[in-house]
Amino acid sequence: HSVESGFFQWSAPSNIALVKYWGKKDNQIPANPSVSFTLNNCKTITKLAFAKKENQGSFSFDLLFEGQPKEDFKPKIQKFLERIEIYLPFLKDYHFTIDTENTFPHSSGIASSASGMAALAMNLMSLEKALNPEMTDDYFFQKASLLARLGSGSACRSVKGKVVVWGNQKNIPASSDLFGVEFPHAIHENFTNYQDTILLVDKGEKQVSSTVGHDLMHEHPFAERRFAQAHENLDHLITIFENGDLDAFIKIVESEALTLHAMMMTSMPYFILMNPNTLQIINAIWKFRKETKIPVCFTLDAGANVHVLYPENTSEKVLQFIKDELVGYCQNGQYICDRIGNGAVLI
Ligand code: PMV
Repeated sequence: HSVESGFFQWSAPSNIALVKYWGKKDNQIPANPSVSFTLNNCKTITKLAFAKKENQGSFSFDLLFEGQPKEDFKPKIQKFLERIEIYLPFLKDYHFTIDTENTFPHSSGIASSASGMAALAMNLMSLEKALNPEMTDDYFFQKASLLARLGSGSACRSVKGKVVVWGNQKNIPASSDLFGVEFPHAIHENFTNYQDTILLVDKGEKQVSSTVGHDLMHEHPFAERRFAQAHENLDHLITIFENGDLDAFIKIVESEALTLHAMMMTSMPYFILMNPNTLQIINAIWKFRKETKIPVCFTLDAGANVHVLYPENTSEKVLQFIKDELVGYCQNGQYICDRIGNGAVLI
């Protein structure tokens, strides 16, 4: 099949882990399984233009971010293309123009690597499909997730919705270290419209890159126990997604967030990635939950921002609480309202 030139455009969302991926082996194989909610509003939109070229000796691409050339992202993309070439042998036959933008503010401290790598992987799979039109949808999405994983581990959870598991877990036979899979069982209605309001506590550059963070788990004194705990927590969550137990959900999700940070505090070198406002927010959430019995909880990524998670039918009260009591702890009062979503979309 010959495909000379053209373009595709995909959007891919960010995701928020409930059981955290922290620690990896070679080839972006996770040290433990993780599970996430796919988000809906925080996404990357990437257009991939391609044109057959003469010289097939090297990768050739231009990179635009919000319409402007972006040289500093190029090494990351170059490395990504090198890693995935064995899966997409046609990459050196084309010149690519990768034109990308995010729906969330760039210096928000929200990692765009998951949505960005997922959006690029989807586009590359569209080109592969143009070359091999007989491929099935299942193959398309599975391989897109595998490619995204090689760009940024957590990106493999951004291809599909609404709840995605990545990493071998014995109770989920379809699960794999190589790609994310949709949670295979029915999800209780308590969770299907979950809300995630992201409080932008610190919009600066990440203090510790996730690459460095994952590496610190290699010599970590608590690593093995932590990896075992992630399996246990995922097992519990599987039951909770089916039975709708919100109290049990909260315990696991908050414990996972604090454990992620505890791992960083107990590695060598050690880091504290929360800041005073992160703790103020956590304490305010605990107080509000105790007083109102509303099942709102928090989770954290490898930074100071707080994700506030709550069921849709509590939105009005929780949003009022956020405006009254939490926005003051956000940088410039900024926060982003998001919710569970369905994964990548061809535009
Ligand atoms: O995908 P990476 O390598 O940037 O790692 C992300 C790790 C966490 O966001 C902290 C946890 C997770 O599972 O998403």
